[in-house]
Amino acid sequence: MSSTNSKAPNVEIKYTQIFINNEWHKATAGKTFQVINPSTGEEICQVEEGTRVDVDKAVQAARKAFDIDSPWRKLEPVARGNLMRKLASLLRRDIEYLSKLETLNNGKSVQDSKGDIFFSADCLDYYAGWVDKMVGETIPGAQDQMIYTRHEPIGVCGQIIPWNYPILMMSWKLGPALACGNVIILKPAEQTPLTALYVASLCKEAGFPPGVVNVIPGDGPECGNAISVHQDIDKVAFTGSVEVGKKVQEAAAKSNLKRVSLELGGKSPLIICEDADLDHAVKLAHRAIFGNAAQRCTAASRTFVHSKIYDEFVARSIELAKKRVVGDPFDSSTEQGPQITAEQFERILGYIESGKKDGAKLECGGERVGKKGYFIKPTVFTNVKDDMKIAREEIFGPVMSILKFDSYEEVIKRANNTTFGLAASVVTKDLTRALTFAQRLQAGSVWVNDYDAVCNQAPFGGYKQSGHGRELGRYGLEEYYEVKTVVIKLI
Ligand code: NAI
Ligand code: MG
Repeated sequence: MSSTNSKAPNVEIKYTQIFINNEWHKATAGKTFQVINPSTGEEICQVEEGTRVDVDKAVQAARKAFDIDSPWRKLEPVARGNLMRKLASLLRRDIEYLSKLETLNNGKSVQDSKGDIFFSADCLDYYAGWVDKMVGETIPGAQDQMIYTRHEPIGVCGQIIPWNYPILMMSWKLGPALACGNVIILKPAEQTPLTALYVASLCKEAGFPPGVVNVIPGDGPECGNAISVHQDIDKVAFTGSVEVGKKVQEAAAKSNLKRVSLELGGKSPLIICEDADLDHAVKLAHRAIFGNAAQRCTAASRTFVHSKIYDEFVARSIELAKKRVVGDPFDSSTEQGPQITAEQFERILGYIESGKKDGAKLECGGERVGKKGYFIKPTVFTNVKDDMKIAREEIFGPVMSILKFDSYEEVIKRANNTTFGLAASVVTKDLTRALTFAQRLQAGSVWVNDYDAVCNQAPFGGYKQSGHGRELGRYGLEEYYEVKTVVIKLI
């Protein structure tokens, strides 16, 4: 295990400014902010810091791009789809560069960055296929009536995204919004603006008209808030914490009642039944929590294990966690890079302390790796009880919490006893049991014998405080169009 950054190549930083109207701009207020390499804690570069004034400028550009006579609005749906496919092909063309930039800024392994970029390109292609398939309905009315519906773009869409999957979250947001013909103001997370700015340059290269995609780096309370409260933004889509999700929805309600979709956190249960293939279950549970350094809204942060297989499962899970390779994300043998910031790093260590204090048993990990960067050892807690903080709150760090259960009735209740409802999973060979769990678990996605089985064509989103609205699939489009009803009296 090593946390040095020796293999990091010299990645050229090409774009650090604000992207409005297909042009690069300095921040109007004249400020910049630091972007940090999480593997070292050192500065990568300074980026222009967008504020309210820059958001205003972007809204003006976007509004113009959305004029009924604009080049964007006049495009045939198929031509719109072709632009999206072109953008997807540019992501694939530049995957070597873009994956290194993502890894430098985010700390995930280069292999993981590449996986995200392929997923992103496929997402844009998937939505490009929808442009000419979004049909309305004709609806039976009175004999002298003709009724039909049209799907129309909402308009200027604000999109505020997090740092855990910078390119992927951008694509999930751009795909359905562009497919429906909207125009966009996207704010990447202040921790990870670099790949979003590069993708902005690819939007221009692909041929999107000026003002269709605008990218404003900046912080949450100023730049993100300027989007949520703006009177002339028609919709805001947000992915991030529950705390900020509530602020975004409140700001939207208090300003112009813009449409809101929220994809927030989780405390997702993974339930291992007594008939599970233990080998499969142990590996699945490991990947389900530790993948992406556990910086995932779907992270399986409550692993419920049947008492009959508990001891064996625990022993094998500890063994696997101890073997996990943590270190330089540019090293091809690395499985887990650093956490994103000093703040997240401290916060996770704080949760580990609270687990110990509350009486959970720390089986392995629980401390940092190396002396610089934000690396944390894969950590396993057993003897975790439902009311402990580590079993209730989103940790967003490499901490596996194992809880024991005896009956299926009991575990369904316990799994659902949370304010979240993003994902859940059950491992069993019994079909009836699997289907019973699938029906009764309160979560936007339920996986059986699998985890994080997220794909472009199937919807993804939360129950309860994990948010509302869906991303991906046909349902994802519904967040980005208005339905107009036209009624004609045949006189
Ligand atoms: P955050 O919710 O503060 O940040 C997410 C995005 O929201 C960023 O672009 C940020 O600039 C923006 N933002 C922050 N304050 C805002 C405001 N007042 N108005 C509008 N936009 C605002 O998340 P943060 O602080 O980075 O992480 C805190 C916790 O949130 C994590 O520990 C994790 O539990 C959760 N989280 C969940 C994510 C998910 O995928 N659902 C992603 C990132 C964080
Ligand atoms: Mg925050």
